[in-house]
Amino acid sequence: MTEAEPDGWPGVVHREGRTLTHVSSMPDSKSKGPAAKSKDSVFHNPAMAGSRTRSVLLMTHVIESGMLGDSEIRALDGLSASGLRARRWLNELPPDCSSRLIATVGDMDQKALDWAMKTEADFPSINGELNSLLGDLRASVISQGWHWVDIDPFGSPVPFLDTAIQSLARRGVLEVSATDTAALTGSSKNPLMRRYGARVRLDKLKHDSGLRVLMATVARAAARHDRSIIPLLAIWDSHHLRVSVRVLRLMEGANNLESSLGWRVYNPTKEEVEASTNSGLLTKDSGTDLPIRCFLPLSHPVAREDKRVSGPMWIGPMGDKDVMASMTVGRSLELCGAIYSENDPVNWSQKNVELENRKVARAVRNIAEEAEAIEATHLVPVDELSSWLERGGPPSPARMAELLKKEGYASSVSHYAEPAFRSEAPWSEIVRVFDEISTTDI
Ligand SMILES: C[S@@+](CC[C@H](N)C(=O)[O-])C[C@H]1O[C@@H](n2cnc3c(N)ncnc32)[C@H](O)[C@@H]1O
Repeated sequence: MTEAEPDGWPGVVHREGRTLTHVSSMPDSKSKGPAAKSKDSVFHNPAMAGSRTRSVLLMTHVIESGMLGDSEIRALDGLSASGLRARRWLNELPPDCSSRLIATVGDMDQKALDWAMKTEADFPSINGELNSLLGDLRASVISQGWHWVDIDPFGSPVPFLDTAIQSLARRGVLEVSATDTAALTGSSKNPLMRRYGARVRLDKLKHDSGLRVLMATVARAAARHDRSIIPLLAIWDSHHLRVSVRVLRLMEGANNLESSLGWRVYNPTKEEVEASTNSGLLTKDSGTDLPIRCFLPLSHPVAREDKRVSGPMWIGPMGDKDVMASMTVGRSLELCGAIYSENDPVNWSQKNVELENRKVARAVRNIAEEAEAIEATHLVPVDELSSWLERGGPPSPARMAELLKKEGYASSVSHYAEPAFRSEAPWSEIVRVFDEISTTDI
């Protein structure tokens, strides 16, 4: 390797998941945000560790299930900084997957690429290969075709979407992070309208609404290039939102995009609930209680000044059942868990290994369980439920899901920003189970 020595090299050796890396300075384990950009010569964000773990598990499932065919896989970590995400793919995918991987780290900062490639030279991956791509991703991404593109910018991913989608092979995967959370979750209304053409009501589902607005934005970008998307995973994680989708060259799907877009209405009227049910967006209900929210199709007229309305947003399922079901704690530890060794290059004790593995497990908490209810219409934060019904205290999401499941409705605890459950049950059943818990469990 002949890369120049970037400022601050070699920094310190650190491990994330099962992968050794160089970082400019030791990350603060309690940090919820990025390490200082200006101070550190190469950016490393410890708060994205969970996102990188999920990326390894997602790529493993996608390759193993044959979604990307059976030959080589060209994957671009488009805004790579230290290159850790791509290096985790190479190091942590099962060998029969990583051996098919040609991974590329892309960045406009030569120092970052030098850092990534020197790190790879120090801790070479056993399988696959790592290349680098210098330049502004908005243009450099179309230098070749990719099966997988990851976009992890400072702020909004919108400027990168069009060319990234155009660069994808006939069957590809796009992973998109957004850290402009104030915009996407409705606190900064002007940037939200400017970048995403949407509005979001600032309430208990603002993170889910933000994810749905981001998904709709990716879907519209795909449609502009005659492609359609299938959501694989959508996650809110402390300071960022992230959606992962399959992108297919399917004109028909692109033409049908409107059927997956719509509005979310808080405190809907009886007529709105009927319209939602008639459009198949709400489970039929013989009861008279109205739900906290419902979706409406894009064709439904909504008033611009109506503060109850969020959207336009993606109103279809936000994840793929099989992908989510594959993200078990066991699998995360099997692929990404740190392993104790006596001659460890970073001198980790058993305790350090355990702490890292707890983080690895936390990255997938509730995701596999949520798989069976990801297509359900209700996502219900439990403290909002008790306030809405003006009785009882917030029930346990696990208990709600368990009792609703017993009644035959797909239901689960959700990997959401608030304690919440998903359920396909009619709203009156949710209310009945809430009352049952309030009277029996307290
Ligand atoms: C948030 S960091 C990426 C973090 C990284 N993906 C990780 O998991 O640690 C964003 C990176 O994008 C690079 N960057 C910013 N704008 C860019 C552009 N237009 N083209 C290419 N790289 C860019 C920056 O130099 C920086 O290294």
